[in-house]
Amino acid sequence: MEKVQWKAGTMVYPLPAVMVSCGIDEEDWNIITISWTGTVNTDPAMLYISIRPERHSYDIVKKTGEFVLNLTNKELAYATDWCGVKSGRDFNKFKEMKLTPMPSSLIKTPMIAEAPISIECKVTQIIPLGTHDMFLAKVMAVHADKQYLDPETGAFNMQKAGLIAYAHGMYYELGNQIGKFGFSVKKKKGRKKKK
Ligand SMILES: Cc1cc2nc3c(=O)[nH]c(=O)nc-3n(C[C@H](O)[C@H](O)[C@H](O)COP(=O)(O)O)c2cc1C
Repeated sequence: MEKVQWKAGTMVYPLPAVMVSCGIDEEDWNIITISWTGTVNTDPAMLYISIRPERHSYDIVKKTGEFVLNLTNKELAYATDWCGVKSGRDFNKFKEMKLTPMPSSLIKTPMIAEAPISIECKVTQIIPLGTHDMFLAKVMAVHADKQYLDPETGAFNMQKAGLIAYAHGMYYELGNQIGKFGFSVKKKKGRKKKK
């Protein structure tokens, strides 16, 4: 097997492209698209977002110490991209993208009503890394759009929600399911026992 070596760079893909809503006072409400994000702890549930200090949202999140991480889907792809190329310094992104600010339950920042999943977060630590500052945050509450829940089990239907993946500057829909947690070690039904 032969490999090509590239210089150090950002190569962990696919990633989500989420819309982070921020701002407590209505005149400060804003949305920034973020891909440098991920879960970092299970209990307490914690995640991070990395923001460049020059972004309009940076000061808002730093000042308020909270944000809502809104997952995005196919229907929100246009708004996701737009909120990632325009600044809240120049536009009211909620109004421009016809997105609905909806009150959160445990923090003052509004979530985006149209998002399939909205995660209320409180910042616990800000770590300067170079180009970006990493905002470590504790998950306070999670809100799921009922239309994507199985009415019997309450499970979130990923396929139905049409979540977005982001890789090398492109947006994608999720493809077909190819496995399930633990499927590699699960015994196949109907397999005859070896004598
Ligand atoms: C798909 C995508 C992912 C992005 N990821 C990040 C990110 O992780 N961190 C960041 O600081 N900016 C990221 N950006 C850029 C900001 O979203 C963009 O600069 C935005 O206009 C900032 O808005 P604001 O000035 O209103 O805060 C991303 C943009 C796109 C389109």
